[in-house]
Amino acid sequence: MQRRVRNPQHKPRPRMEFTTLWDFPSQNYGIGWQGSTSYKGATPSYIVWNLLKRYTHKNDLVLDPMCGSGTTMDVASDLERRAIGFDLTPVRPEIKQCDARHLPLQHDSVDFVFIDPPYSDHIHYSDDPRCIGNLGAHDPKYYEAMEDVLHEAHRVLKKEHCLTLYVSDSFVAGKPFCPIGFELFSRMRQWLAPVDIVAVTRRNRALRDIAADPQSAPPYLLRGFHYLFIMRKE
Ligand SMILES: C[S@@+](CC[C@H](N)C(=O)[O-])C[C@H]1O[C@@H](n2cnc3c(N)ncnc32)[C@H](O)[C@@H]1O
Repeated sequence: MQRRVRNPQHKPRPRMEFTTLWDFPSQNYGIGWQGSTSYKGATPSYIVWNLLKRYTHKNDLVLDPMCGSGTTMDVASDLERRAIGFDLTPVRPEIKQCDARHLPLQHDSVDFVFIDPPYSDHIHYSDDPRCIGNLGAHDPKYYEAMEDVLHEAHRVLKKEHCLTLYVSDSFVAGKPFCPIGFELFSRMRQWLAPVDIVAVTRRNRALRDIAADPQSAPPYLLRGFHYLFIMRKE
């Protein structure tokens, strides 16, 4: 497991954010890793760290129903929270194989939910027909599937506790703009109360390359941030 290998480069320690604009210097904090940097679409661990620090307590049970390389589980362990992670295609033994729309959990049983779902079909995760990453953002089935994921997370979340969704919009040249963030927020809003909305700066190689060579920028705006929707079950 990559987490056990020590990284000679010490990355900055996480610190509490005080505004709704977050921008992190690296994917992972400290010595070693949370999740896997080689996993395409892995969540920057500073995000999960900030959420767990602010919205959970020691020993709380944290759920990530689409947990990929397990970033949420590793940060939860660092902060002495308990964690349960599911994914359609688990990459570690602690992650259980499950469709996020049918979780083997009781109603009102978890203290916090973090979800970083596929947003459209930019990344290939698996050929499993249930993989939501195979549905394009123009396809109404994407929103139906995500609504089912969010409903299921809401079912297992305890009342007065938080569900958080980290997601970006999608723009593909030649196709209409897909405001995924607002689409999913408006669906969640029907049965969850908004607590806050954070914008998290995106940092990836394509954006760095364009910053270094602005002439190579395409004639449309690139996505520069993710939404982090923080909602509460009432
Ligand atoms: C953006 S990645 C999550 C990254 C993760 N937070 C990390 O740090 O590594 C989205 C994940 O959703 C999973 N996924 C897609 N459809 C799913 C489904 N129906 N049920 C559960 N997981 C699913 C994919 O396999 C992928 O690992």
